[in-house]
Amino acid sequence: MADVVNLDQWPDQQTRGHTIPGNRYTSREFFEQEWEGMWTKVWLLLGREAQLPNPGDWQMEPVGREEILMVRQKDGGIKAFFNVCQHRGNPLVSETRGHVRSRFVCKYHSWAFTPDGELNFAPDKDDFPEGNPCGKVRLVELACETFAGFIWVNMDPEAQPLKQFLGPIWDEWEAREVHTWKRTMANTMWLPCNWKVVLDNFNESYHVPTVHMGATPSTDRKAVRGNINTYYKETRFDLADEGHNRMVMKGGYSTGQTDKEGNILEPLAGLLEYWGLDPAEFKGRPEDTREALQEAKRKRGPEMGYSHYSNVPAEQLTDAFHYTLFPNFAVSLWSDGFHFLRARPHPDDPEQCLFDNWWYSSPASIGAPNSNRPLSGDLENANPETGEVDVNVLTYPEDSIGPAIEEDVAVFVTQQRGFRSRGFKGVYLSNQEKRIRRYHELIDDYIDGRLPK
Ligand code: FES
Ligand SMILES: [Fe+2]
Repeated sequence: MADVVNLDQWPDQQTRGHTIPGNRYTSREFFEQEWEGMWTKVWLLLGREAQLPNPGDWQMEPVGREEILMVRQKDGGIKAFFNVCQHRGNPLVSETRGHVRSRFVCKYHSWAFTPDGELNFAPDKDDFPEGNPCGKVRLVELACETFAGFIWVNMDPEAQPLKQFLGPIWDEWEAREVHTWKRTMANTMWLPCNWKVVLDNFNESYHVPTVHMGATPSTDRKAVRGNINTYYKETRFDLADEGHNRMVMKGGYSTGQTDKEGNILEPLAGLLEYWGLDPAEFKGRPEDTREALQEAKRKRGPEMGYSHYSNVPAEQLTDAFHYTLFPNFAVSLWSDGFHFLRARPHPDDPEQCLFDNWWYSSPASIGAPNSNRPLSGDLENANPETGEVDVNVLTYPEDSIGPAIEEDVAVFVTQQRGFRSRGFKGVYLSNQEKRIRRYHELIDDYIDGRLPK
């Protein structure tokens, strides 16, 4: 067995405890400070390598007022450019994906740039007093690296390497072989709320019983367990030096997964069977299924195609590892599912964001029963070229962003309204919401020019 990742490498963090008033979610001035101080200084996950299989393939993604063009190069690498023609500023491409055989041609005066960013054609090239721009003018390039199959960019010319920025995330995700996983669901929509409303929500599980399980003040918090155990005393919370967070919730069984006689119900029963275990043997003791599943997955996983099972600790075979990567990316990482939740700012409105609810699945799990993954998409409509489903751009409020997450979205929108009130005096956070405080402190650190080393 390969070396498994050590889960105890995340140190504890102190928070400073300053206030988080509502205008951080509504004010244009603060939105500007965030843009200049933070968004233009951080690594941003913007693309997926599988979307750009061949040289000349490109993907364009918006982030705030910028559009970033990512292009697969002849040598197999990827370069990222600001999507703006260096003649007189027209955007170079207007679609989100495409392929160029030899050049990107601007639709205004036909200046043409090669996939590596060099201008190699301009009409009437002899007519420029500063000299022929060809071979001289280039698209403006950004730092671009790949990790876990994703393409990350950073607008800061002084950016630290991505590996350093990601801290402990790097080893943990690498062991899971996330770069081989396929996108099986991709729902995206603009929402009428600030991007931090989304990230705050995914930085805590305090809302889960109320929003997702219909809990009330009289509900026993220990008894409310869905597919995962969200009880805070049994949840592990970590904050990395680099600003990223981790929350570990036990999975593999829950109080709702037996009937009155103690029989194991679906989807747990099907999951046990898939791993060669008999649900009847666990009658009346559902809590024993977690370790039994870990053992069965450890033993049978590699031969069933789950090669990553050899690299990870037992917890990662059953439990939900929920990460928030500063600044705008949250992911629930299961043994075979990568629930991708991202919020990007609007070009100029602090009260809107672009929200992605996507799902990636490990290759072995794609043909397996759905119960092997807590949520699943399907590959029936996958793009034959990329092997992944294309992004489904939906409209709020007409469309649903997808099960469960639509319940979060309903609260995002009402909470944003509350943040506008002069009657809101700032958040009052529980310890299990500490990651929210830390996130906001980090935003302020960036704004004040104190970037993590
Ligand atoms: S602005 Fe692009 S060619 Fe003129
Ligand atoms: Fe939620």
